[in-house]
Amino acid sequence: PEAITIQELANRMSERAVDVIRMLMKQGAMHKITDVIDADTAQLIAEELGHTVKRVAASDVEEGLFDTVDDSTDTETRSPVVTVMGHVDHGKTSLLDALRHANVVSGEAGGITQHIGAYQVLSPESGKKITFIDTPGHAAFTAMRARGAKVTDIVVLVVAADDGVMPQTVEAINHAKAAGVPIIVAINKIDKPDAKPERVRTELLQHEVQVESFGGEVVDVEVSAKNKTNLDKLLEMIALQAEILDLKTNSERPAEGTVIEAKLDRGRGPVATVLVQRGTLRVGDIIVAGAEMGRVRALISDQGETVQEAGPSVPVEVLGFNGPPEAGDRLAVVENEARARQVTSYRAHQKRENAAASISGMRGSLEQMMS
Ligand code: GTP
Ligand code: MG
Repeated sequence: PEAITIQELANRMSERAVDVIRMLMKQGAMHKITDVIDADTAQLIAEELGHTVKRVAASDVEEGLFDTVDDSTDTETRSPVVTVMGHVDHGKTSLLDALRHANVVSGEAGGITQHIGAYQVLSPESGKKITFIDTPGHAAFTAMRARGAKVTDIVVLVVAADDGVMPQTVEAINHAKAAGVPIIVAINKIDKPDAKPERVRTELLQHEVQVESFGGEVVDVEVSAKNKTNLDKLLEMIALQAEILDLKTNSERPAEGTVIEAKLDRGRGPVATVLVQRGTLRVGDIIVAGAEMGRVRALISDQGETVQEAGPSVPVEVLGFNGPPEAGDRLAVVENEARARQVTSYRAHQKRENAAASISGMRGSLEQMMS
């Protein structure tokens, strides 16, 4: 059954928690502000305090948070969001670093003061921006997909030319295919004397990745992150693929996005790196992500600069959450704090119920094992 903390109940009625506690005391129950009471008791208290109670279902709480069905207003072109994947040590980080330092949007490599896990790069020929997400690994990608978060438009599959297709290469191919995301192959480390790019293409064929020179449609680019060879070409191929995908959005609506990573920073409090996907996120917006809420206190760009707003495909650090949300949580802007509290307290409650259910489930199976 539904339950609510005394603090939360008081908040929702704009009453003082002590008055709620006093009311409960009258009924012979001693409570602390953090105690959880059941929905029936909460309703009784609320009605005694002169409030009308409307119990809401999950569908009511989540209703209208994300405008996922109606995309008829998505008419603006947006930058592609790219995730780099591949086998361990094949050069994912090196490639991302090389791309970032070669073509950072602001043009000044020295301007990068902090690493936010996602950033934009300028494609030199077309002048178009590309958003890269620096995921820590496949696990994060899987977790995001499991939460229904779709952040990636294109996967750049890095394969070291001296090592060839390896287990995690195959894993990445399967991830991309399952998500229905097109692959661009970056055959890396071509500077190495034992590089065999042709062998990579043949091995890819065995996993149903057919590059153009083999009559397929998958684009491959031979690169060297070390020597910065062909990086512009890789960016151009990404821009081209983006054009084919015809990515659209609407910046004129309340923001929707996905949390890429989040942490509790000693000085700054909860900090979340968010990829804005639709709409525009602004300082002062009231936001929810997972079971956390807040008011945007500051937005920090991938250049480490404070900005007032962030539009579609733009990654930003968001300050102002009450607690750090989780990677893969979807962010939404809501009308007011009451709505934010309704959504997050409902989700927090669900989370506790799920956790309790899985613990009692575990206990059950343990007991079965012991008997
Ligand atoms: P994990 O994050 O551990 O999975 O590795 P990664 O894929 O990010 O590889 P990383 O960029 O850390 O590179 C692994 C090693 O390969 C490092 O020693 C790099 O210096 C080297 N390396 C990366 N790119 C190149 C390249 O183009 N040429 C050569 N010769 N070495 C490279
Ligand atoms: Mg790495």
